[in-house]
Amino acid sequence: MTDALTEFSHPLARLVLHRYPKRRGERLRAWDGADLYLLDLWLEQALGGDPHAPASGAPLVLNDSCGALALALHAAAPVSSGDDALARAAWWANAADNGLPVQEEAWRWPQAPWPQAPSRVLVRVPKEMALLEQQLGRLGALPPGTPVHLAWMDKHMPGNLLARVRHYLGEVELLRGRYKAHGLTGRVPGSVPDAPYPTSVKVPEQGWELVVHAGVFAQQQLDIGARLFMDTVPQGVPGPIADLGCGNGVIGMVAAQRNPGVPVTFCDVSWLALQSARENMARWLPQAPAQFHLGNGLEGLDTRFALILLNPPFHRGHAVDDSVARMLFAQAAKRLLPGGVLQVIGNRHLRYDVLLKRHFTTVTQVGGDRKFVVLAANDPR
Ligand SMILES: C[S@@+](CC[C@H](N)C(=O)[O-])C[C@H]1O[C@@H](n2cnc3c(N)ncnc32)[C@H](O)[C@@H]1O
Repeated sequence: MTDALTEFSHPLARLVLHRYPKRRGERLRAWDGADLYLLDLWLEQALGGDPHAPASGAPLVLNDSCGALALALHAAAPVSSGDDALARAAWWANAADNGLPVQEEAWRWPQAPWPQAPSRVLVRVPKEMALLEQQLGRLGALPPGTPVHLAWMDKHMPGNLLARVRHYLGEVELLRGRYKAHGLTGRVPGSVPDAPYPTSVKVPEQGWELVVHAGVFAQQQLDIGARLFMDTVPQGVPGPIADLGCGNGVIGMVAAQRNPGVPVTFCDVSWLALQSARENMARWLPQAPAQFHLGNGLEGLDTRFALILLNPPFHRGHAVDDSVARMLFAQAAKRLLPGGVLQVIGNRHLRYDVLLKRHFTTVTQVGGDRKFVVLAANDPR
């Protein structure tokens, strides 16, 4: 990776920042204009732009993508909160690379308490509006008047953003654009409405009603691919099962039900996805042996699996991209027991069969319809 892609420079800090996991030939920076925008707002306030700003207190940073915000603001001892385990890993690794000591408590997963009185709240607008709304709804726990700044890349601005933000914050000031980004500023009002999350999703085939926390895949109804995939989950699996990219956990739950006593490991990069799966298992299959793994796919797990079930993500950030699916296929190929199977569902046009054949000798179709195909991959190369 060239230096221009990793050398972050702002009047607040010069840092070397990488995305996580580090990838050979990475072409994306670990920060963007929305980060620079929020840091500019912080600096303007520090230079005296805001007479109402509290004299002291650490900022609360929401949805920092790779640590650019929290690390550039390191001197102000920020607390960072977000849902993405890769964002946390990038923050942690970039802190170490830049010799900046950070504490575990400086990162809060979505349901952890926030500091009671942050000096201001800096919010990168996340891809999932539901996650943003859940966070805005929580601002009511902060002292009224606390300044709140949001920033987003113009090309990623959700259509209903301003209306949704005003619903929680009341009047806000839309600021001028720079760095191909925009921002707004507001204050925590006297009363903030609750966000309508988690939602629940019915699975009539099983008699389950699943909890789906904010921003988790298939927020309002079961994914049609997942419904088809459920039907293909085998019985009589002779060893541990993984639900890779588990979302609300529905696929792993079906696997647990069809294979009593066989341990199922639910894996996701989203804390709220894993929390949804954890709550759903506790409610509907409390006796079934289960583990929950937050992280980048199977990375960090020692278990080998007789069956890995995967309905892969087809986005990386905002872009349609099969690189995460490819990485998960490669991980799965190294994590199967002898005779083990990776079972994958995907849109036909994605041609996962071609990608799977790079890692597996045998790839067969075990289900599908006009739109989707379910593939079983055996014999890792
Ligand atoms: C298409 S959804 C499938 C969710 C669920 N299995 C279903 O069928 O409804 C893909 C899931 O993969 C997760 N994911 C994305 N990148 C991941 C990664 N690197 N490691 C683990 N999970 C990941 C997403 O958070 C999302 O929950």
